[in-house]
Amino acid sequence: MTDPTYTSRLPGFHRLSIDDRLEQVSRVSGIAVDELASLGQGTPLPRLAEFIENVVARFDLPLGIATNFQVDGKDVLIPMATEETSVVAAASNAARLVRIGGGFETQILEDRVIGQIEVLRVPDVESAHAALEAARDDLVALANTAQPSLVPFGGGCREMEIRWLADNGYGNVLVVHLLVDCKDAMGANSVNAMCELLAPRLAELTGGQPGLRILSNLADRRRVEATATVPIEVLGFRDWGGTEVRDMIVAASRFAERDPYRATTHNKGIMNGVDPLMIATGNDWRAMEAGCHAFAARSGKYSPLATWWKDEQGNLSGRIELPFQLGTVGGVTRLHPVAAASIRILAVTRAQELARITAAVGLGQNLAALKALGTEGINRGHMRLHQRNIELAAQRSDG
Ligand code: MEV
Repeated sequence: MTDPTYTSRLPGFHRLSIDDRLEQVSRVSGIAVDELASLGQGTPLPRLAEFIENVVARFDLPLGIATNFQVDGKDVLIPMATEETSVVAAASNAARLVRIGGGFETQILEDRVIGQIEVLRVPDVESAHAALEAARDDLVALANTAQPSLVPFGGGCREMEIRWLADNGYGNVLVVHLLVDCKDAMGANSVNAMCELLAPRLAELTGGQPGLRILSNLADRRRVEATATVPIEVLGFRDWGGTEVRDMIVAASRFAERDPYRATTHNKGIMNGVDPLMIATGNDWRAMEAGCHAFAARSGKYSPLATWWKDEQGNLSGRIELPFQLGTVGGVTRLHPVAAASIRILAVTRAQELARITAAVGLGQNLAALKALGTEGINRGHMRLHQRNIELAAQRSDG
């Protein structure tokens, strides 16, 4: 993205042939057209068989490119793997509106992966607690010996938190949280290794019995926020005035804030943007799903991950906060050819950069959904393409 001519603003991209789209993506990303075109041929089965067990076939998803995104002043093309019609178009449309307002602004709020070590049947909470406090620094140092490769990159276990759960038939239950800086990895393997290494030592120090040792997918210590403002003048369309559209979006946000039934659908729309980007980059989208929904319920009431309001100038402003579990190294991010190419199209190297873009895509997707829902309804755009799929399916079943 150092190329000053790099732009994600590609008007008419959706009307181009696939070959012409590839040519444009190649021009912007610097990846050769042939290389991009080869991705469409599919990954050879033997290569895929290295990822999971008992492979017999390939399951294809279309990979689309959302245009118009500008995140922290930089243009970025968004690769999205999804089967749902309208999602890529909606993201691109929302990004075009946000772009006019200055683009998405993002911030990393915290960047620690949580690992949990459970110890059952601790005989004496007070002395166990004291023993853990006395050994705190040694335990953190020991955790780092499980993943020595993280340390030279500036990562590693940073802190340890001690929690006690009420006796539920297993005596006093200790839960130790390790807070780990995983740098550009999603971190599951590193953190699980740390937890497994530490468990016997914790049991020894406390007189308890080792229980589970695994990272937590409630990643509330690794969070990113994105904000966006859309000038009221660009919100209007057809017979809808900008003020009306803004007010409908704000009202839709209030609905989600008050009602968990609506908040769940609101957040599903956000994940319509987040998941395709996670899939395209070879990330564990189930971890993102689990984390985002648990985070949405953190207050005890399931709430929207993104909210919208009228700002002091009367424009529409929105904010999203997401826990992120993703990486630009590890897993299949570099091994899967499409994932590796997606990361190059995004022009990111750091997990934090990908997290910032993910939050922007989630917020943009939410804006597009609320704008459609608050005005003409979702079916107009959605059903046009959906209808085409139904017709295609009918034609194919007719032989
Ligand atoms: C459909 O996949 C997603 C929406 O239902 C999201 C929303 O209601 O906000 C349109």
